[in-house]
Amino acid sequence: MPKRKPSSAEILPTDSRDLFRAAVARAAQLLRAGEVVAVPTETVYGLAANALDAQAVRRIFAVKERPAFNPVIVHVASQALAEQCVAHWPLMATKLAEAFWPGPLTLVLPRSSIIPDEVTAGGPTVGVRWPSHPFIQALIRECGFPLAAPSANPANRLSATTAEHVRRSLGNRIPLIVDGGASHVGIESTVLDLSASPPQVLRPGMIHQEALLAVTGELARPGAAGPSVLKSPGLLRKHYAPRAKLVQHTWKNEEGLRVFSSSVGVPISKIHIIAHTHIPSLGKFSGVSVIPHDPEAFARAIYSELHRCDESGAEVIIIEALPETIEWRAIADRLSRAAA
Ligand code: TXA
Ligand code: MG
Repeated sequence: MPKRKPSSAEILPTDSRDLFRAAVARAAQLLRAGEVVAVPTETVYGLAANALDAQAVRRIFAVKERPAFNPVIVHVASQALAEQCVAHWPLMATKLAEAFWPGPLTLVLPRSSIIPDEVTAGGPTVGVRWPSHPFIQALIRECGFPLAAPSANPANRLSATTAEHVRRSLGNRIPLIVDGGASHVGIESTVLDLSASPPQVLRPGMIHQEALLAVTGELARPGAAGPSVLKSPGLLRKHYAPRAKLVQHTWKNEEGLRVFSSSVGVPISKIHIIAHTHIPSLGKFSGVSVIPHDPEAFARAIYSELHRCDESGAEVIIIEALPETIEWRAIADRLSRAAA
């Protein structure tokens, strides 16, 4: 892994036209030189490198300590660039791109010869996504090449939704973090495998199954196509994990929560509560966070809350159990992996 001093990363703001342009120029300069740079996207922050430069992509794996078998997503800023990354661009991809791009949807398709093995983990397919965040779009246009970018966090840890999250976990390993504000989707993109028929959701996201169905007409049942864990290592059971132990629980009132809290095996003062409907008072808990009972708002806030819990030194996080409706499914998926 590249050795750098603690938090040696330069952090560039983007909140004026001049700052935005300067950050695009600096990031592009580093990327052209084969460096790895953390950049904002609307889902989570990405750890970007030139997707066509095998050595630069290997650097991403070193920085993240990511296992080489886990492929990375290639980010584009036009359908034309996406088409260059794949061997064949089906009509279905055009329909999905028209409906959901730019946005939090990754399409898995047979790779083209310009995509190095390092990106696909040696596999026959590549995941492509056109993100909606204006910074990464401007950066890809400036570079003229697609950007390989996994989430900007050490492997298996919580994804980062702010520049500060990236600085804390990777600030000593990369030269630049671009601050584009808090990611407004807040959880990772939906990954849809179009190399199989019917298409299959490999990772649920805020573009949910039913929205996709309206375009594709058909989707494989989850698990129908066999061991999707191997197809998409991001589906490994334990992932997206905070340091604290995470449990989900439903409570009707404060008394119910207190009884449950005293059974989890650590002092109440080491327990952090995340609630969305039945809000307890702080009492002796180490903290109580409230996220609105709304899936979009919840997704946007959840990783920040989990990062905050870890910093506070909480040992157990009790999250009020989520509704079981489709809009909550991707968040439930992340929490179940975080709790594994
Ligand atoms: O929202 C996102 O997707 C963020 C931002 C930065 O774009 N990226 C992200 O990347 O979450 P990462 O590497 O943390 O997760 C990518 C997921 C993993 O589960 C990986 O296994 C899967 O996508 N994936 C990537 N390429 C694939 C491929 N060719 N076939 C199957 N799964 C693939
Ligand atoms: Mg990730």
